[in-house]
Amino acid sequence: MSSPENKWWNEAVIYQIYPRSFQDSNGDGEGDLKGITSRLEYVRNLGVDAIWLSPFYSTPNKDGGYDVADPRNVDPRFGTLEDAKELFDKAHALGLRVVVDIVPNHFSSEHKWFQEALNSPKGSPARNRFHFYDGKDANTPPNNWISLFGGPSWTQTSDGQWYLHLFDSSQPDLNWENPEVMADFERTIKFWLDLGADGFRIDVAHGLAKEDIHKDHYDPQGLSDALRLDVLMEVEKRNSYLANIPFFDRDGVHEIYRSWRKIFDSYQSRDIMAVAEVWVHPPKRATLYVRPDELHQFFNFDVMNAPFDSEYLYKSISDMLGLVKEQSAWPTWCLSNHDSERVASRIGADAARAMALFIFGLPGSAYVFNGQELGLPSGEMSDSDRQDPIYFRTGGKQKGRDGARVPLPWSGDQAPFGFTTGKPWLPLQDSWKEFTVEHEEKDPSSSLNLYRSALKIRREEFVGSGEIKWTKTDGVLAYKRGNIEVIINISDKPYPINGKVLLASHPVTDSLPPAAAVWLLP
Ligand code: NOJ
Repeated sequence: MSSPENKWWNEAVIYQIYPRSFQDSNGDGEGDLKGITSRLEYVRNLGVDAIWLSPFYSTPNKDGGYDVADPRNVDPRFGTLEDAKELFDKAHALGLRVVVDIVPNHFSSEHKWFQEALNSPKGSPARNRFHFYDGKDANTPPNNWISLFGGPSWTQTSDGQWYLHLFDSSQPDLNWENPEVMADFERTIKFWLDLGADGFRIDVAHGLAKEDIHKDHYDPQGLSDALRLDVLMEVEKRNSYLANIPFFDRDGVHEIYRSWRKIFDSYQSRDIMAVAEVWVHPPKRATLYVRPDELHQFFNFDVMNAPFDSEYLYKSISDMLGLVKEQSAWPTWCLSNHDSERVASRIGADAARAMALFIFGLPGSAYVFNGQELGLPSGEMSDSDRQDPIYFRTGGKQKGRDGARVPLPWSGDQAPFGFTTGKPWLPLQDSWKEFTVEHEEKDPSSSLNLYRSALKIRREEFVGSGEIKWTKTDGVLAYKRGNIEVIINISDKPYPINGKVLLASHPVTDSLPPAAAVWLLP
């Protein structure tokens, strides 16, 4: 890979912690910062380089903390600012960097700015920090956009005006044309950097600039379906919707990141990084966010959502490697996050192990979602346990993302497996006995031990060892990086192999079983 400098994030493994689900320290059934701090040795021993913490800021928690009421404070459910500082310091002492989330597309409706806007007249400076407009008529919003969580993107206030929310009605979109918004986020960025954060994961990074707010979309339901991964749609049709979305990936967003980059770079000796959540089409558009004067990484969702299919994976991975090279940036690879079905449920437990080995050998940075290392499936629950606004805004039609957010099982034989001494906010399954950290630590063939070995060998053998060379034959995909050959068998027949096995996702002899991967010294 071509990179002018050898930066820590180029090939870092970054472990995503969803604070509410990681470890509870006070028995209230929800994970918290002290809980995370108490488990940092576990994280370090996994062999990762950094952690990314999903939001732990003041929040009414209508969207799992992505509804921020005060971006420069810690919500009491997670602890205090002192707890955050203690977490950052301990992580650093263990050699882990800390990436925190920043949520610039919207605030919570409980943020003081929005409360002020509601209590201020039409056209006031307080309303101008958000997108408040008159409707087309008394009962019709300014346009027909549909929220990403279902239902209209607009909510009417008591004086008849409407405000825009691409997500839940409790998440009013900010107006980035207002310089006060930029100034406030600059404060937030500096606040967390001064407390010790090493970087940011930027939520909905492609959404900050909006165009054509007073125009109807030609097919809002089609667009909304195209944006949902659970709705099947012919690829070309989907791509035609995605190629031009009035509220996503407008050119205006880049100016914002150029100015953020100046702040990051002003922390000269600290090597601050930022990774963008960008759902854009075509994927080449995503590389604009990592131009040399903008951000450092963007998530590659194509591989995260890819079917377990050799042609698809080959094209998606090789295209991405080519695209980032054009910007002298590095790719990122991930298999799961807090918004998606867990990979072990999405493609199956065997394929999930195999895919982990396959992506860990690639040049670039890898993200691991907490629990993925255990091979954890998505949690199951009854509808009365669900908390995701997607479930409520679609009238239960879509189940939402709670399955990925069920707390982690740590130890013991019974739910909640050491996560809490209280009642967990989402139920852990009794059947997860074999997925606890305690259980997997003792089992040499566990997913946890596979991840630990893989990340150790990755660091020693792959990192920095240059580009890859592909070979592929009928359902079997392979690449060579440095001295090692990485092979994944996506066919339904065993595949003969030759060489010294460094690591394999499943027991291998002279052949690699279906849905398995191996690292070989030929
Ligand atoms: C993306 C986040 O990952 C997701 O959890 C959240 O609901 C939306 N952005 C809105 O902030």
